[in-house]
Formats: sequence, structure tokens, C-alpha cells
Amino acid sequence: MNYEPQIFELEKSSVWSFKERGDWATHDSKYRGNCSPYVFRNLIIRYSSPGDKILDQFVGGGTSVIEAKLLNRDIIGVDINPKSVELSINKLNFAYGSSDVEIRIGDAQKLDFINDHSIDFICTHPPYSDIIKYSNNIDGDLSRLEYSDFLKSMESVAKESYRVLKTNKFCAFIIGDIRKNGFVKPLGFETLQLFRNEGFSLKEIIIKQQYNCKGTSKWAKISNQNKFILLAHEYIFVLKKCN
Ligand SMILES: C[S@@+](CC[C@H](N)C(=O)[O-])C[C@H]1O[C@@H](n2cnc3c(N)ncnc32)[C@H](O)[C@@H]1O
Repeated sequence: MNYEPQIFELEKSSVWSFKERGDWATHDSKYRGNCSPYVFRNLIIRYSSPGDKILDQFVGGGTSVIEAKLLNRDIIGVDINPKSVELSINKLNFAYGSSDVEIRIGDAQKLDFINDHSIDFICTHPPYSDIIKYSNNIDGDLSRLEYSDFLKSMESVAKESYRVLKTNKFCAFIIGDIRKNGFVKPLGFETLQLFRNEGFSLKEIIIKQQYNCKGTSKWAKISNQNKFILLAHEYIFVLKKCN
């Protein structure tokens, strides 16, 4: 098994683009809407140190926790969906280093089991409202919520993120905008604003080019017919808790 990408250089600009998916360790692209491991590798290296405790409260298919383990960080991974938790645990089933890893079912809106000011870096990737539904009937699953309800819930996520993070540490999250009835809804910036309202300071806005989205060819046709531009980017917002 390869434990790292063959070629890796830390990103230096505000536009990131990873054509290669990344298949080292147990990474694959099977979990719907999962994120490239290159993104988490960059964020973890830049904003944390070996031995730090990282939180991903929307852990999904486990991309962030695999990278945290490979980079010798301790990690708490949380997901509301038991299937995602099981998948992430399976993905971590390889011998490497000695990180403390805790993966559990939970709700990112209420992380009662995590103490105030105890996390060194938050690195996460929530659903983009109901664009991909991760369950049909799990209470608290944010991917079942339409735009305004989703934003209300993300307010609680921002509050919890601020509470658990140590002062002078960073919180990074990946999110995209969505299109409804032909018009763009700026989910990314509206979610960012919720985090800023809690007291986070905006450190970086990174634009990430999107590749291989399921449904792209269908949408290419529709966008051509209806004369709109395909959304092909996401944001990575990096925030700092300054006090
Ligand atoms: C975009 S996916 C994360 C993908 C992940 N970054 C990866 O690379 O595999 C979002 C995840 O958030 C989870 N989720 C939705 N609502 C949640 C909540 N309230 N608390 C925790 N997880 C939630 C979904 O089950 C889904 O697995």
C-alpha cells in the first residue's frame, strides 16, 4: 500500500485544482460527493501539526480521517449516518503510526461529548443543502434540508465549531453554491457569514475546481438548452478563532 501521493506539493495560491483523484492508502471515490484527499492533505499540513487533535464533524466516507492518520494527527470523526461511520472505521483499518482516532455517530449541531476549547483544527465538508441526500429518514441529517432550513442548522454547526476550537486555531470547510430554478443560490457565502457571525475571522477563500461530478453530462445538456453556466467550483473557507 502507498501511504502518500507519489508527487505532492503544498498549494501556494488561492485556486486549487486536482485532476487526479488520489488513490493512496484506502482512498477511493466511491462515497457520493466525497472530497479529494489532496484537499485535506493540504489543509492538515498547513493548519495543524503532528499530534494535534483534528475534528471532522461531517466525516462521510472518511477522506479527512485517513489523511489525519497518515499525517500523525489525532482525530475525532462524526457523522449522523451510521453507514458513513461504519465505512470510515473500515477505511481506517490499516496499520500506520499511533494516532488516537475516534469515529462516532453524532450530530454536528450538538457535539456535547467534546469539551470547550479542546480541538486544534476543524477540517470538514458539510452537505450542500439537499443537493445530495445522504439519507431519507435520519433526523438531523442536514442533507434532507432545503436552503433556508439548512442555513438555520448551519448556524448551530458554526456555534459548536467556535465552542470546541482552541483560541488562535483554524477551522476550514468546503462548500459549494447551488442552482435552483435556473438561479444561483450563494450557499457558500451565506454559510461563511454564519461562521463570521459567531466570531471567526476570515483567513482565506480558496476556489477549488470541481471535476467528475455525477450528473455533469446531464446538466451540460440542460445548461445548454436553458442558457446557464455550469457551476464547476467549490469554496474552501479558512477561518481563525482569534479570541
Ligand atoms: C459531503 S459529505 C462528507 C464527505 C467527506 N468529506 C468525504 O470525503 O467522504 C457530508 C456528510 O455529512 C453527513 N451529515 C449530514 N448531516 C449531519 C449532521 N447533522 N451531523 C453530522 N453529519 C451529518 C452526511 O451523512 C454525509 O456523510
